[in-house]
Amino acid sequence: MENHVTQVAFKVNGEEHTLDIDNRFTLLDILRDKLNLTGAKKGCDLGECGACTVILDGKAVNSCQILAVKIASSEIKTIEGLNQGNTLHPLQISFIENDGGQCGYCTPGFIMGAYPLFESRRNVSVEEIRLALAGNLCRCNAYGAIIDSVVGAIGIKADG
Ligand code: FES
Ligand code: FES
Repeated sequence: MENHVTQVAFKVNGEEHTLDIDNRFTLLDILRDKLNLTGAKKGCDLGECGACTVILDGKAVNSCQILAVKIASSEIKTIEGLNQGNTLHPLQISFIENDGGQCGYCTPGFIMGAYPLFESRRNVSVEEIRLALAGNLCRCNAYGAIIDSVVGAIGIKADG
């Protein structure tokens, strides 16, 4: 094996993968270019837009900022892993119902950014939702509808 390549085993959306990974590649590169999971977008590639957000061991991360060789034994969830068969995830349904996406480029990142809050099954406040999504940018300026979409899926505290 060439010395700039490392064999890494990890799980994506519940499926095991073992790949020989170029040490320079990011998690986003692997998802998009090796596994054909193109829901996570390469917006800035600099950690500034959140379009590449996925869940890594339960936390929302910018996958463009994670070297793929660091994900050994990790569990990753992408937007492609949210639906149950033909049934969309409540966050996906709420984004449709609340018009949370215009061009849709940022939408997977916002949904994955909100996913840990949804999974926490807590009654969160709008402020908590805003904070969780503070690193995500929407060039269509759909922020109001995006927050409404997350609120619609998660519910908020009475004082939220
Ligand atoms: S593409 Fe990763 S933060 Fe913009
Ligand atoms: S809906 Fe277009 S970038 Fe957000």
